[in-house]
Amino acid sequence: MGYADEQNEIYRRGTTGQRPKRPIDWRVLESQASQQLRPGPWGYIAGSAGREETNDANRTALSRVQIVPRMLRDVSTRNLERTVLGTRFPAPVFLSPIGVQTLAHPEGELASARAAASLGIPFTASTAGSHTLEAIAEAAGAAPRWYQLYWPKSRDLAASFIQRAEAAGYSALVVTLDTWLLGWRPRDLTEAFLPFLWGEGNINYFTDPVFRSKLERSPEDDPAGAIALFVREFSNPTVTWDDLEWLREQTSLPIVLKGIQHVDDARRAVDAGVESVFVSNHGGRQVDGAIGSLDALREISKAVGDQTELLFDSGIRGGADAVKALSLGARAVGIGRPFIWGLAVGGSDGVRDVIAHLLAELDLTLALTGHADIDELDASAVKLSDAH
Ligand code: FNR
Repeated sequence: MGYADEQNEIYRRGTTGQRPKRPIDWRVLESQASQQLRPGPWGYIAGSAGREETNDANRTALSRVQIVPRMLRDVSTRNLERTVLGTRFPAPVFLSPIGVQTLAHPEGELASARAAASLGIPFTASTAGSHTLEAIAEAAGAAPRWYQLYWPKSRDLAASFIQRAEAAGYSALVVTLDTWLLGWRPRDLTEAFLPFLWGEGNINYFTDPVFRSKLERSPEDDPAGAIALFVREFSNPTVTWDDLEWLREQTSLPIVLKGIQHVDDARRAVDAGVESVFVSNHGGRQVDGAIGSLDALREISKAVGDQTELLFDSGIRGGADAVKALSLGARAVGIGRPFIWGLAVGGSDGVRDVIAHLLAELDLTLALTGHADIDELDASAVKLSDAH
């Protein structure tokens, strides 16, 4: 059984009168999710910073790179397996960290983590999750999982999050660098909606022993006091490269720096000795008018691709996009908003389908472009379009 069998299975079911339960086309899935959710939650999921031009740039950067298929090569069996951050995965794909997933579905992260685990790909638990990292770990079972740290103001709290993640069996620490402050997000501002102020997405803080020790009254007795402390702890714009040394001392897990876009920052990350650079612009949610993330990957890959493991997200909307990013040096590719659309429309099954469909399209594109192994993909598989 390969990933492409997902396609055979859909056609086979068609012969018995069964149609797919949810839209196959992600544009339709997105539209269905948008109609299902209330304006506040939908705006939070869909929105980006400012005029949302970075979000557009992410897509433009992907469109500008085009695949050049090769013929007459034996692609009858394919291998998508790859080792990422020390773990062997069936495919170079993961779920990017997304907070407050209960905005999309009552089961939130538990449903998404189960779906990722059923396909053996890593789920990345956000510090801003709506379920505790321990509960998510339990939902993921034996499947590998990563923890994404929003590095809080107090070092003892940061250390506590890291210790909890280690104790709960997370195998990598993804540190997000682009969100020390929230970007200017007109959709959220229009709705005057920030989930954390409504007590959604702060459960990792409210259950943390160090966080609780900083409160006079417990979050259960005084939610407003706990939310106020959350707000103070979340925003931490003082962090610099020098602080990475402290972070390194806190953990033996591989450290991934998420949000890198500049070549010099990528070089600096390599010099700092972290295991991985995660090229991402947070899906355009932080800096409007910034470069498309794939444009950043192209440059960063040339500069440091052979010295570190590059992860990539921002704009991935199908298997062909994944092929482009992998060809340009990504070791693995993160799915962002699309799995949340699946979650909104179909819970855990909806997330499972989004992942399985991306993997099927990735597998088919690999075959149809003349590659039998994911490791054969390199820059020669794509070209920059002249049309842009
Ligand atoms: C995010 N992202 C994010 N990143 C992170 O490091 N921690 C987080 O808690 C969140 N939360 C979050 C919520 C929502 C609703 C979205 C859409 C995104 C960013 C995420 O990891 C990823 O970088 C982007 O989603 C990639 O862009 P696309 O592909 O979704 O456009």
